[in-house]
Amino acid sequence: MKIVVAYSGGLDTSVLLKWLKDKYNAEIIAYCADVGQAEELDGLEAKALATGASKCYIGDLKEDFAENYIFPMFQGNALYEGRYLLGTSIARPCISKGMVDVAIAEGADAIAHGATGKGNDQVRFELSVAALAPNIKMIAPWRDDEFRAQFPGRAEMIAYAEENNIPVKASMKKPYSMDRNLLHISFEAGAMEDVWHDATGEDDKDMYVLSVSPEDAPDTPQYVQFLFEKGNVIGLQTEGLSELITELGDVTPTGEQDGYTLLNPYGVMRVLNALGGKHGIGRVDLVENRFVGMKSRGVYETPGGTILLAAHQDLETLTVDREAQAVRDSLMPKYAQLIYNGFWFAPEREAIQDLITSTQRTVTGEVRLKLYKGNCMQAGRRSPLSLYDEDVASMEGAEEGKEEAYNQNDATGFIALNALRLKATARQKDQG
Ligand code: ARG
Ligand code: SIN
Repeated sequence: MKIVVAYSGGLDTSVLLKWLKDKYNAEIIAYCADVGQAEELDGLEAKALATGASKCYIGDLKEDFAENYIFPMFQGNALYEGRYLLGTSIARPCISKGMVDVAIAEGADAIAHGATGKGNDQVRFELSVAALAPNIKMIAPWRDDEFRAQFPGRAEMIAYAEENNIPVKASMKKPYSMDRNLLHISFEAGAMEDVWHDATGEDDKDMYVLSVSPEDAPDTPQYVQFLFEKGNVIGLQTEGLSELITELGDVTPTGEQDGYTLLNPYGVMRVLNALGGKHGIGRVDLVENRFVGMKSRGVYETPGGTILLAAHQDLETLTVDREAQAVRDSLMPKYAQLIYNGFWFAPEREAIQDLITSTQRTVTGEVRLKLYKGNCMQAGRRSPLSLYDEDVASMEGAEEGKEEAYNQNDATGFIALNALRLKATARQKDQG
C-alpha cells in the first residue's frame, strides 16, 4: 500500500506519518503544500525522510492558489454568513488538488490528512478528493479509535516522537489553533473558545501575525488605486509601492501601465496584505456554523482580502447592470456556503462560477480607496465601460438647446402602473 500524507513537519503530522506507516505497513509519500503559510520549508524533506517517508514533495501552489481559487472567489464577493472571507475554506480544494496530482503520479492507493473529526477541513479534503479522484481512499487517523486512544494528548505524541526518533522541534504549544495561507490566518480553539473573551485587547496583542491593531496604525491615511480587468486586479498604484515590492522580495511586477505597476494575482495579494496589515485592516471575530453542526468561534486576519473585496464591490456598482448583479448577489450566500462546506469541485459551484464570470465581463476600470486605521474608504471609481450617466443622474436640467436625457413625465405612467396592484390590495383590505 502507498499513502500520500499531508505533512507539515510539525508534531502532529510527523506522528501521523510514522503511525500510518506502521499501522498499514505502507510506503509513505509526504506532501507539503505551500499556499503561502510562510513556514520554513528548508530541511522539510530531510525531516520527512528521517520520520519514515520514502519521498517528500513540496508543492508550490502559491500562484495557483491566488489565480485559480482566491481571484475567482472574490469575483463572487463571497462572504460566509455575512462576515467570514473563507480564507481556510478556499485553500482546502487547492491543497487537495495538489495531493491528488501527486497521488496519481505516484500510483498511490490512499491520501491521509490530519484534520479532526469535529471540523470542516476533513469534509473539504475528502469531498475535493472524491470529486477529483473517485478511486483514491481517504484515511483520517483522528477518526480512528485506535489512534485517539493512543494519543489522548500532546504529551503522548511527544513521547511517541522521542521513542521513534522522530525529529520534531520542542516548540511551545500555542494557546490556540492557527491556519495560515496567502489569504488569511485563523485563530481558533484554546483561549478563543470562551466566546466572551475579548481578542482585541492587550492580552492578545501578540497573537496577531498579519496586521497591527487599528489603534496602532499610522495616523496618516494611504491612498491605493486599483486597475481591474474583467473582475480581476491586474495593477496597483500607491506611494512607496516599489520599495514595498523590493521589501517583500518574492513579488515580480510584469510591467507598467498608466502609472500602475502590473502584478500577477500572487503579487496583488502579497502587496495588499502588507498594506492592509500596516493599516490594521481585516480583523474579524465571529461565531460561525460549521458544516458538521456545531458553532465555533474564530478570529481572523484577512488584510488583503478585505481591501480586495471593497475595491471589487465598488467597481461593480459602476459597471454591472442592476438586475444581472441582483441575480448574482442572490446566489452569493449559496456560493459562499458551497465553498465553506467543501463543494468547490461540485457541479453546482461550477455552474454558479460560470454565471459570476459572465457578470465580470464589464468589471474593467479603476478604483481608488483610502486606507486608514482599520477602514478602507471608497474614494472614487471610473471605467471605460461605466453605466453611470451624469446627464441622466444629474439634478441639473439639460443645457439650453439640448434634449433632456431623462424625461421626468415618463415617471408618471411608471408609478401609476406600479401602483395599480397596491391600490387593488388596499381596496381588498377595505372589503375584508
Ligand atoms: N473555521 C475556519 C474554517 O472552517 C478556519 C478553520 C481553521 N482550520 C484549522 N485547521 N485550524 O474555514
Ligand atoms: C480541524 O478540526 O481539523 C480544524 C477545524 C476545522 O476543520 O473546522
